[in-house]
Amino acid sequence: MKSQLSKLGEIALSEIMGADTPELLESLRVKYLGKKGELTAILRQMSGLSAEERPIIGTLANNLREKIEAAIEENRAAINAAVLQKKLRSEALDVTMPATEPIIGVRHPMSIVVDEIKDIFIGMGFRIYDGPEIEMSTYNFDRLNTPATHPAREWTDTFYLDNESKTLLRTHTSPMQARVMETVSPPIRAAVFGRCYRKDEVDATHSPMFHQMEGLVIDEGITFADLKTLLHDMAVAMYGENTATRFRPHHFPFTEPSCEMDVLCHECGGKGCRVCKGEGWIELLGAGVCNPRILEMSGIDPEKYSGWAFGMGLERAAMRRFKISDLRLMFDNDIRFLEMFK
Ligand code: DAH
Repeated sequence: MKSQLSKLGEIALSEIMGADTPELLESLRVKYLGKKGELTAILRQMSGLSAEERPIIGTLANNLREKIEAAIEENRAAINAAVLQKKLRSEALDVTMPATEPIIGVRHPMSIVVDEIKDIFIGMGFRIYDGPEIEMSTYNFDRLNTPATHPAREWTDTFYLDNESKTLLRTHTSPMQARVMETVSPPIRAAVFGRCYRKDEVDATHSPMFHQMEGLVIDEGITFADLKTLLHDMAVAMYGENTATRFRPHHFPFTEPSCEMDVLCHECGGKGCRVCKGEGWIELLGAGVCNPRILEMSGIDPEKYSGWAFGMGLERAAMRRFKISDLRLMFDNDIRFLEMFK
């Protein structure tokens, strides 16, 4: 039995020290020390031993058990350390590797210009309003004193949304004049920014979707002089100290008298060139003193209050600001163009 034990010890210890996975080690533990294990089986035979032999073999068997247990523990620690090392190596991060740079977009030139103009008007005491792009004909035309025969009312010019021509995509931001007047009581200083729609073919200066800004001032004693001063100041704030402006008489149904304001061509300084189409001036906006009928229709007493309004195409303002020559660039979403505004 002695030799049986020492042989078992030799094999067991070499097998245990040779194990290289936690699973194999566990199966060896069961194989030698488990209830049905080989050492246990030898110990079972001890009942057949003489009284002298029993304690000697018992001590040997116990020593062997301790040795096997110690070997298992020793190798378990080694295996765990090796497994951890392997895991650390395979999951290692190279923190010195250059990162992939995230692509961060830039603000669209239209948004840049809108924000600049908003700042100018907020600085002059205006409030910013939003209005619906889907608008009622009433607000888009009737409440602005637009005659029934006006060409803008034609289906060929305007995107109507129903067969009775009651709803449409607004053709300008002017309907917000009526909407603001009927909800806010004077004094009013309103600035409205937003998209407008007309059935125009796309070319270098036209798009069926475009942006406008509307300005509206209603108070006691407001005159055409206020309009001229503020719009000139706005042009200077937008385009710089030496900006020259000129006012030409015009006609709009919602203002009386009406005008258009031009700025001196930035390209040729007034001599006439391709950009200003030989004019020397570039038209920037339409404006005028509010027709008393508009005030009346919106519930404001025209005897007490007067006001002025203007509407400006924002694409043109942005194109002049950034010297962009083709309107289509604004809507093409070409990343090479947009990146120029970084
Ligand atoms: N709504 C006009 C247009 O789209 C522009 C305009 C002209 C607006 C005169 C005004 C104004 O407020 O007073 O052409």
